[in-house]
Amino acid sequence: MISDRLFTIREEGDSVVILDQSLLPHQYATRHLNTLADAAHAIRAMLVRGAPLIGVAAAYGVALALKEGAGNKALQHACDTLAATRPTAVNLRWALARMQARLQPLPVAGRRAAAWAQAGAIAAEDAAANRAIGAHGLALIERIGKRPVNLMTHCNAGWLATAAWGTALAPVYAARAAGLPLHVHVSETRPRNQGLLTAWELHEAGIPHTLIVDNAAGLLLRQGKVDLVIVGADRIAANGDTANKVGTYLKALAAADCGVPFFVAAPLSTIDMACPDGGRIPIEERAGEEVRHVGGLDRRGVHATVAIAPETRPVANPAFDVTPARFITGIVTERGVLPPGEIGAWFR
Ligand code: MRU
Repeated sequence: MISDRLFTIREEGDSVVILDQSLLPHQYATRHLNTLADAAHAIRAMLVRGAPLIGVAAAYGVALALKEGAGNKALQHACDTLAATRPTAVNLRWALARMQARLQPLPVAGRRAAAWAQAGAIAAEDAAANRAIGAHGLALIERIGKRPVNLMTHCNAGWLATAAWGTALAPVYAARAAGLPLHVHVSETRPRNQGLLTAWELHEAGIPHTLIVDNAAGLLLRQGKVDLVIVGADRIAANGDTANKVGTYLKALAAADCGVPFFVAAPLSTIDMACPDGGRIPIEERAGEEVRHVGGLDRRGVHATVAIAPETRPVANPAFDVTPARFITGIVTERGVLPPGEIGAWFR
């Protein structure tokens, strides 16, 4: 939680309150989640999104599910239901595995309270990890000998995508707090336009930024307008290959061609050491409707969705891509910064 208003998820009695990100940046609204079905829907429909936040929401989803009954069948059903919501962000499975490992050995009567405590611990650990990522990432930004430092990011890896602080944006917030002048190029991130969430966050924080269309990124890199690219991650394989929002790979390619450092910032919960390389990371395919339609405010300020392609037009909508480790300068976690080929050291 950043403040009373700027939070992504929090407990309220025996329910959970989330900031509904499907309405941002046009409307700020919160919602109560009361059941397992509410939590699964919130993750699937992206009311909550971003790998770390998906993990936290899933953990709370288990706590909500156990209100109805905390036996082994109920626990397994809750974990299976939540695991099926989104396939790419490994934090979801990581959080569910932690919930199961904590709850399964307990007597049924003790599981409900333990589920809330464990979900709260996962949220608190995420916030602490991201704060540490901010400090490590700040050191990278400080090393750039230009002021203001021009950064580029993709999608939204800010506090909205986590329990607090964000991953790729945590160093931005740390730099701001340290008084370091910077500017962030924010790519729109079609089709879900999570870049608009990043722009909203940066606006709220008073951090200079410019919204660009995704296809402008290569030109800006070529023109020397970007000193460092920093993105989040949904799953990092053992060899450092990184799945993140579709479009990340193209930024990494262009950054490599232009000699611009390209960093990935993520908590250790995003690293999947059981996954040997990026080719084994499941890529979520989302509804074609997201490509055929765009949403926004009409001239009266009323939310509207318009079709930009006929309903019958065939479309593909892969939500993530994989950036090979060779294009990644370093991976920033709560433990520090390492080249992608060396991240195994954090698990030994
Ligand atoms: O589909 P989303 O919005 O959940 O995807 C989010 C991203 O790809 C983020 O970059 C990633 O989860 C890192 S969030 C700290």
